[in-house]
Amino acid sequence: MKLIEAKKRVEELREEIAKHDYYYYVQDSPVISDREYDLLRRKLEELEKSFPELISPDSPTQRVGGKPLEAFNSVNHKTPMLSLDNAFNINELRDFALRIKNLTGITEMEYVVEPKIDGLAVSLLYEDGMLVRGATRGDGHTGEDITHNIKTIKSVPLKLRDRVTLEARGEIYMPREAFEQLNNKRVAEALPLFANPRNAAAGSVRQLDPRVAAARQLDLFIFTMGSYEGYTFKTHFEALEYLKKIGLRVNPHINIYKYMEEIIEVCQEWSARRQDLPYEIDGAVIKVNDLKLQEQLGFTSKSPRWAIAFKFAAEQVETEVEDIMVSVGRTGTLTPIALLKPVKVSGSVVKRASLHNEDILQEKEVKIGDRVIIHKAGDVIPELVKVIKEKREGQEKEFNMPEECPACKENVVRLPGEVALRCINATCPVQTYERIVHFSSRGAMDIEGLGLAVALQLWENNLVRDVSDLYYLKREDLIGLERMGEKSVHNLLVSIEKSKNNPLNKLLYGLGLRFVGEKVSKILAENFPSIEKIMEAETEEMLSIPEIGPRIATSVYEFFRGKSNLKVIEKLKTAGVNVCMEPPKKERDKTLEGLTFVLTGKMERYSRDEAKELIESMGGRITSSVSKNTDFVVAGENSGSKHDQAISLEVKILDEKEFQELVVSGQQVQKGNEVT
Ligand code: IVH
Repeated sequence: MKLIEAKKRVEELREEIAKHDYYYYVQDSPVISDREYDLLRRKLEELEKSFPELISPDSPTQRVGGKPLEAFNSVNHKTPMLSLDNAFNINELRDFALRIKNLTGITEMEYVVEPKIDGLAVSLLYEDGMLVRGATRGDGHTGEDITHNIKTIKSVPLKLRDRVTLEARGEIYMPREAFEQLNNKRVAEALPLFANPRNAAAGSVRQLDPRVAAARQLDLFIFTMGSYEGYTFKTHFEALEYLKKIGLRVNPHINIYKYMEEIIEVCQEWSARRQDLPYEIDGAVIKVNDLKLQEQLGFTSKSPRWAIAFKFAAEQVETEVEDIMVSVGRTGTLTPIALLKPVKVSGSVVKRASLHNEDILQEKEVKIGDRVIIHKAGDVIPELVKVIKEKREGQEKEFNMPEECPACKENVVRLPGEVALRCINATCPVQTYERIVHFSSRGAMDIEGLGLAVALQLWENNLVRDVSDLYYLKREDLIGLERMGEKSVHNLLVSIEKSKNNPLNKLLYGLGLRFVGEKVSKILAENFPSIEKIMEAETEEMLSIPEIGPRIATSVYEFFRGKSNLKVIEKLKTAGVNVCMEPPKKERDKTLEGLTFVLTGKMERYSRDEAKELIESMGGRITSSVSKNTDFVVAGENSGSKHDQAISLEVKILDEKEFQELVVSGQQVQKGNEVT
């Protein structure tokens, strides 16, 4: 095929595909089968492969770009992206209508009511009909350029059906089904779950690699234009019709109403039917339809006077308290928890709700067997709103907090000024293994493979009584524990060893002092850069740091006066755990002396610079190209020609795991390419 002929065909195919994308993703009514569509795409891909000079950014094959970005660029919005005022009940809606009547002097007017999509605001810039940029709202004035991710959303046209220049604004969201699929996948991969579709959508557009967003099935509705310059629409509804006409996806449930009472009814209906939609909405938006009136009403500094968001109340559901249990936390706090007959609330099944402490338990007067109303606070955390006392039948059982710790059976105390009951037994097993799990967690010492199940086994087998015991574990202790084979034992020991080099803030956080979270640990470690300095610090010295208040200072002071805590610190030090901000320079192992390394590809745990520094600190040398004199090629992901050269020159190749073993456990290395 000649180039000119190919060009014509490519253009035809693109138009055809864009048309079907529109029918499928925007109109929700495909006119051809998936197979026919795939054939069109395949033809286009083949032609673009034969004539790469014909590839253009608006081609449907270019939705997922090649390389991940290095960083996000910031974008200045031409007109600020404002927020909306909220109405939390119908009276506030009536107030809104009254305000508008007073400001305009007009008693009857049209309003447009739209679902308020629970996602995140975006702005799409089209120039001459071509998508040139997509940006987040950011602080309203400056957002982030997320064009690479926006292009992966199939309902976003890369080219409009009119060669116009405009900014379209709308909301990106993740449909419920996509959200559930994503979280199910994450459960299988042991990754942390997203709390709700909004967070999942936000997390997806904030990815540098467009392949992630492409896999997340995001979608979008456009609800307004950034500016109406050059257009002659009379009403907002007309503008929406136009946006629809040029190929943008506009929500189908948008209507015009004249009377506030009618609008209130619509809002209430949506509130009751919100679960029926395939995406989450958190309210309805009411907008003055007439654009001249909108202009006349104008804006406050934060939001337009011509619109308001009617926010739905959190969904409330009735269920039954089947039992009340008490859990013991890492700091010994006893928390009563209502075990509920499972019910679906705001999109997920709820089985338990914390009752926080004895006072709240009494205040809410919850009994076992009670019918109760629950909701999700902030749409996330299940909370017991109230007991339906009218539904009591007499068999409900009163519940009192125990006098003994459910884990170790020692008496519990309520310390002065505290609302919580607390188990103060330093050897309480639950607290111990919870402390170990916390010590090993990501933000703390980051010991991979040491979760609740392993911690429990270590406790039950008398192997660990406090966190310092971890550093005295030997292979023989671990082998033979349930689900601990050679490989997991090896990995766990390597990971424990590696954690010795963590900076002080991670250790401090891992020790789990009360009121000392990740951020406070960092502040303390920056001001007192060794554990000895923190141990010696008087409360006044700590209080001179702006972020440290008396609660934290007292907690730190007390912790380092506790005899058993001091013993733990001594044992950590003896085991070689770093207790300073800067990890000690490794004078001891110059095990890589005389060896030459070449680094290639990308490693998960080490950046190129970190790997280089590590090798050099152990006496090794880095060169940029592979030769006969190279002892090791360290090959991460996507390593290219250097990997191949290593094979042809028979140079030993280390993958990331082998490299980690080499530098972390300081295994003996012999020249002659042998790792023992
Ligand atoms: S109109 C000038 N309409 O809600 C403000 N916003 O709380 C224009 N939102 O930032 C916003 N659905 O991200 C409008 N149908 C809708 C909406 C909507 C969701 C979001 C939007 C806005 C936020 C305000």
